Amino acid sequence: MAFSKEIMGRTLMERTMLPGPAWKVWRQSGPFLVQPREGIPAELWRRRKAGEAAVRAAASEAVVRAVSFVSAKKGPAEPAVSPAKIEVRAVVTVRKKSKEDMKEAIVKHFDALTDRIGRNVVLQLVSTELDPKTKAPKKSREAALQDWSEKLNVKGERVQYTAMFTVDTSFGIPGAITISNKHQKEFFIESITVEGFSGGPVHFPCNSWVQSKNDHHGKRIFFSNKSYLPSETPAGLRPLREEELRNLRGDGKGVRKLSDRVYDYDVYNDLGNPDRGIDFVRPTLGGFKIPYPRRCRTGRVSTDTDVNAESRVEKPTPLYVPRDEQFEETKMNTFSTGRLKAVLHNLLPSMKASLSANNKDFNCFSDINSLYKEGLLLKVGLQDELLKKLPLPRVIQESSHDLLKFAIPKIVSKDKCAWLRDDEFARQAVAGINPVNIERLTVFPPQSKLDPEIYGPLDSALKEEHILGNLNGMSVQQAINESKLFMVDFHDAYIPFLDKINALDGRKTYATRTIYFLTPLGTLKPIAIELTLPPGGPSFRSRRVVTSPVDATTNWIWQLAKAHVSSNDAGVHQLVNHWLRTHAAMEPFILAAHRQMSAMHPIFKLLDPHMRYTLEINALARQNLINADGVIESCFTPGRYCMEISAAAYKNFWRFDQESLPADLIRRGMAVPDPTQPYGLRLVLEDYPYAADGLMIWSAIENWVRTYVNYYYPDAGIVCNDMELQAWYAESVNVGHADLRHADWWPTLASPEDLISILSRIIWLSSAQHAALNFGQYPYGGFVPNRPPLMRRLIPEEGDPDYTNFLADPQNFILTTQYQEVPWMLASWTCHVCARCSSQILTHLSEPFSLLQRLVIPFQPMEIPSNWASLAAAWLATVTIVLLARLRRRRRLNLPPGPKPWPIIGNLDLIGPLPHRSIHELSRKYGPLMNLRFGSFRVVVGSSVEMARTMLKTHDVTFAGRPVTNAGKYTTYNYSNITWSQYGPYWRQARKMCIVELFSAKRLESFEYIRV
Ligand SMILES: [Fe+2]
Repeated sequence: MAFSKEIMGRTLMERTMLPGPAWKVWRQSGPFLVQPREGIPAELWRRRKAGEAAVRAAASEAVVRAVSFVSAKKGPAEPAVSPAKIEVRAVVTVRKKSKEDMKEAIVKHFDALTDRIGRNVVLQLVSTELDPKTKAPKKSREAALQDWSEKLNVKGERVQYTAMFTVDTSFGIPGAITISNKHQKEFFIESITVEGFSGGPVHFPCNSWVQSKNDHHGKRIFFSNKSYLPSETPAGLRPLREEELRNLRGDGKGVRKLSDRVYDYDVYNDLGNPDRGIDFVRPTLGGFKIPYPRRCRTGRVSTDTDVNAESRVEKPTPLYVPRDEQFEETKMNTFSTGRLKAVLHNLLPSMKASLSANNKDFNCFSDINSLYKEGLLLKVGLQDELLKKLPLPRVIQESSHDLLKFAIPKIVSKDKCAWLRDDEFARQAVAGINPVNIERLTVFPPQSKLDPEIYGPLDSALKEEHILGNLNGMSVQQAINESKLFMVDFHDAYIPFLDKINALDGRKTYATRTIYFLTPLGTLKPIAIELTLPPGGPSFRSRRVVTSPVDATTNWIWQLAKAHVSSNDAGVHQLVNHWLRTHAAMEPFILAAHRQMSAMHPIFKLLDPHMRYTLEINALARQNLINADGVIESCFTPGRYCMEISAAAYKNFWRFDQESLPADLIRRGMAVPDPTQPYGLRLVLEDYPYAADGLMIWSAIENWVRTYVNYYYPDAGIVCNDMELQAWYAESVNVGHADLRHADWWPTLASPEDLISILSRIIWLSSAQHAALNFGQYPYGGFVPNRPPLMRRLIPEEGDPDYTNFLADPQNFILTTQYQEVPWMLASWTCHVCARCSSQILTHLSEPFSLLQRLVIPFQPMEIPSNWASLAAAWLATVTIVLLARLRRRRRLNLPPGPKPWPIIGNLDLIGPLPHRSIHELSRKYGPLMNLRFGSFRVVVGSSVEMARTMLKTHDVTFAGRPVTNAGKYTTYNYSNITWSQYGPYWRQARKMCIVELFSAKRLESFEYIRV
């Protein structure tokens, strides 16, 4: 008996008994079916009253197998009207694992075997209604999934199983399904569709793992796709709604198993590993001392040496995240999660260890380029051990000679010198991978917000004379008033840590400020860089200003200063803007959403796709990226202080109310409120692609959220009385962001407008903002000289021992300041890995697109099952909207008047032996500006003083290019010399090189003896 219970889940006696309680319900339900009730078609009742032996349920689907009257089986003494039963079918879509290890395969076959003898998967329908007699939710009898063993070897990604239920016609609409998995192995349910009810099929989106009862004793609960606010929850579903939330909240105790689904909070006390030694001790982030957002609790035991530090779980054992937060296998296989995990768990650390012997400096810039051409030589055997076993990212390619090669990052794919130019340096401040630190300069010199009592005098070294020569004749105040000066300021982010960072071996950095001037062309130009060291050092070394170069030496110093700025930028981008603002700060909102809002809650449904995978990515980061001696600490200048910089930014800078795009732009002075403009703001800097494009996305998100919220929350009272919603937000603030909970800037949640604002911010941060900060990491950061994350030397000054070396070979000096092969490679990989993380998180990159899609289709409050078609439609809608917007912005310009051209010859027939006379005659007819065609060439002719002024002065830049001819192409290597190249960044760089290298007074003097 005991054995049968173990195998089949219940005793043989239980299995052979007649229907028990359920049977009684069957019998007792008769009287309730006598009275007609809502939802049962009149025809059914008519036929039922007529005593027909059997009817079909008035179902919309043909799948209804049979409906029988109990009366047909009863004797003639039974009442004429008897309770009716309908048979309905649940179609369960289970997603299969494509790869199984030996153990999983054995367990799978064992489950198939035991399924035949009753140890199976059992479903039960739960109605939205209460049983009037028992006052408990109506439930169907349990039914097992059929054909599990028969479909054991079915090919394909998904397998559909069915379960048949017989329910009363008074059952109502099923609102939930409970599942018991008596197998040994978990399985993944994608969805369930129940067919046969009069209202049509009922869908249950699941997308969740169902664990074995051996591991988790309770039943899994899945709700239908109908959204309900808590107060509107049907009576039959209320107990399950509360039970499911209790399950997800857990008890906050014990070590979490990988199969758990418990969401809870903890501090970042698992980054260090004190058991390995003092070098691996890291402070706990989160708490009174170092405020930080909370992360997902794993409950691991403490370390041996520090009871407050959680013990580490090292690769390849995964960190706990709730089971449904783990990557789906299909995504791993089809995209890059497997690669990401492989790289994070195996490749990076192994490469770091194995290649350390090859750690050497570059000698010249061509060494860097050769890494792309020739690859990096690996240790013998490493390729066999690692590379051939691991699915490598696309950007990393293998060759047949133990070489590792990288795809060429876009920053140098077209022009190898692009990263050296000032205009590209400035462009990246507004359109690069970190376009969110630039701000409008309102006070000169800029001021620090740090406490001088702690950090000493913090006056800026910038003086008016440093920038005055680059302001096109304007005074500094005039340039500020006209919004011509901008700044990227990393002073306050780095100053508190400079002493400690610079004391690390092989790491040196400044706290930088860069001043930009807005040129008449509408582009930015860097004009001064302030490099600050802690005031405790020698006074002449504590601050330094580097300005635009005037000769070769100052040009190299300028390049070094820009490299330090880029290094500061790379650190703040990764540690603050990317990790803190879009990963860590989002985690509490995600945890609270799962703990406090039911899956039926409309706001949970709205947020769910934006929360997907963030917990898993954050856990992977804690394990391999931001941990002690992890990839981030290895590759970025602040080293072991990286996460403390992130925490300082959380304490001093992060504000949830400023995380919307409009608020952020206004805070940085990059936009001013203007109700007449499309998005309620006017950009101060017109050519600011991040803001211009971002506002379109932001607006689409906000409009969609507004439409959605207004549907469910027509007034403020509903918002205030939604207990789940209020609990979610309160817990996000008071528990998830407990260290900042007393800040006065937290938005309130008391009206639909408050809710729209909060939700738009969260969706923006986790989708579009994350994409903007992430997708360009390899294109820009993959070429490390463009964004060197690790700097090893300060800039030498006259009198320093290094200064002589610098003068002797500045190229070598700058290279040894920045790069070594292995850190370079690791940094490049880090960029790639971090960018890949978004590929997983940003499967919801399509969300803004789907939001846009919903703007152009009628709003539907019901859940719409996502599929490729809807994503494709979303994509098309987005592309259409963007193109239409661009077309609308682009003015269509007409050509000047002119004679109608003939085919082939154009207007050459009108040009006589004296062309100027012919043109003069034509201009008298067509005006001072006319359009001619010389053969296939279009020619615009100006024939007046005013036109000459327009072309040669007003629009000089437009006409400054050289004609494109074969002579220029073939004699000067595709227009590469200064004579034939088109006017633009390349030509300006060439001119600058000529001025600096050829025509400076020093150079001319040196050429004296060879000058003809
Ligand atoms: Fe990310």
